[in-house]
Amino acid sequence: MNLITIRLAHLCENGDDSLANDAPWRTAPTHIRKTSDRHKNLPNFLLYRKEMDVAWITQDFPAIAQAEIETLAGKSAKQNGDLVFVEASLKGLEKRLAFTKATYTLLFSCTKKGMQKAFEAHDWKITKDFRVTTSRSPLPAPLLGHFIKTKSGKQVNLHTPTNHVMVFGRDKIHVCQLHGENDSQFEERRGRNRPAKHPTTMHPKLARAMVNLTGIKKGTFVDPMCGSGGLLLEAALLGFTCEGVDIDSRLLAKAQQNLQYFGVSSKLTKADSTKLNKKLSHVALDLPYGRGTTRKDLEKTYQAMISMLGRNLKGKAAIMYPHWADVPALVKKAGLSVCYELEAYSHRLLTRKIVIAKR
Ligand SMILES: C[S@@+](CC[C@H](N)C(=O)[O-])C[C@H]1O[C@@H](n2cnc3c(N)ncnc32)[C@H](O)[C@@H]1O
Repeated sequence: MNLITIRLAHLCENGDDSLANDAPWRTAPTHIRKTSDRHKNLPNFLLYRKEMDVAWITQDFPAIAQAEIETLAGKSAKQNGDLVFVEASLKGLEKRLAFTKATYTLLFSCTKKGMQKAFEAHDWKITKDFRVTTSRSPLPAPLLGHFIKTKSGKQVNLHTPTNHVMVFGRDKIHVCQLHGENDSQFEERRGRNRPAKHPTTMHPKLARAMVNLTGIKKGTFVDPMCGSGGLLLEAALLGFTCEGVDIDSRLLAKAQQNLQYFGVSSKLTKADSTKLNKKLSHVALDLPYGRGTTRKDLEKTYQAMISMLGRNLKGKAAIMYPHWADVPALVKKAGLSVCYELEAYSHRLLTRKIVIAKR
C-alpha cells in the first residue's frame, strides 16, 4: 500500500457509509426513480449510476437558479444544497445561466467511506492533463490529484488543464468534470455603471434569469415595458433579436443609450403596450411600481397588460411584480397557465415576485 492508499483508507474508515442507504434516487423525482432497477448491481460505495449533469449554483436565489436550468434544459431537476442535478446536458448553458457558477458532467457519486474504492473503480478518461479542485471534500485536492495521476498516468496541470475534476460534498461525494464556468460580467452592467440610469432597473443577473425563464432559444425577445432597457440588454447580449416598447419616450431614449453603450441594439417603439395586437413568443417584463400612482391604478395597468398577453402570447412570459399584487390570478383569468411562481428580491418595503406564464 503506498502512502496515498494508506491516507485514503484511514480517512475513509472514519467515514460514514450509512449514506448508501440514503441514496438520492430513493427520494429522487419519478424520472430518476423509474430506472432504479439499474442500481441493482451497484457497489455499495457508489450512490447511483445515472448520466447526469450538474450545475453549481450561487446562493442568491436557488429556486430561480433551478427554474432557469429546468427551463433551458427542458427537464425537471433535483437540488441538493448548491448543486442542481439534471438528466440532460448542461454543456454550454453556463454561458447564459444567471445564477450558475459552472456546469459539469457527473462522473460518479459515492459515500465518504467509499471514496477510495470509487476513485479506484472509476475509468479515468483523462485526455492530456488535469487539475482537481474540491469544495468541502473530506480528502484534499492534492491527494486526490495524486491518486488520479497514478491511475491515469496523466500529468497535473494547475494553470491550463485540459480536464478539470471537481469534487463536491462532505458526506455524499459528487465527482464531476467541468464543462465550463460562467464568465458573464454582470457587475459591469449594473444600473450605476450604465450611461443612462433608471431607479427601478433590476440587477443584470436577475434580468438575465428573466430572459432565460422565457425559454428563448431563437426568435424575437419582447419587453413591452422596457424602461431603460435592462432586460433588452441581457437578451441582446445573448444574440437575440429584441423589441422594446414603452409609453414614455424619455425612457426609450435611455434604453437606446444603454444598448448602444454595450454595443448591441433593439427595435424600440413608443406605444401603450396594453393595446398591442401581435403574436409574442418570448416576453419578459417588469411591471411598473408607480411612484405617485395609487395601487388601484397600478392594478388596472397590470390587468390590462396581462389581458394583452392572454390575447397575444404564443410561448412564455416572465413577469416581475410587487408582492401585494395577485398577478398569478390575473394570468389564469387571462386563459394562460402558470409554470413557476418565484420570489426574487426583497427590501424592507417591497418583495419582487416572478410568475412564468405560458399559453
Ligand atoms: C419598472 S419599469 C421597467 C424598468 C425596466 N425593466 C428597466 O430596466 O429600466 C416599468 C415601465 O413600464 C412603462 N409603462 C407603464 N405603463 C405602460 C404601458 N401602458 N405601456 C408601455 N409601457 C408602460 C413605464 O414607462 C416604465 O418604464
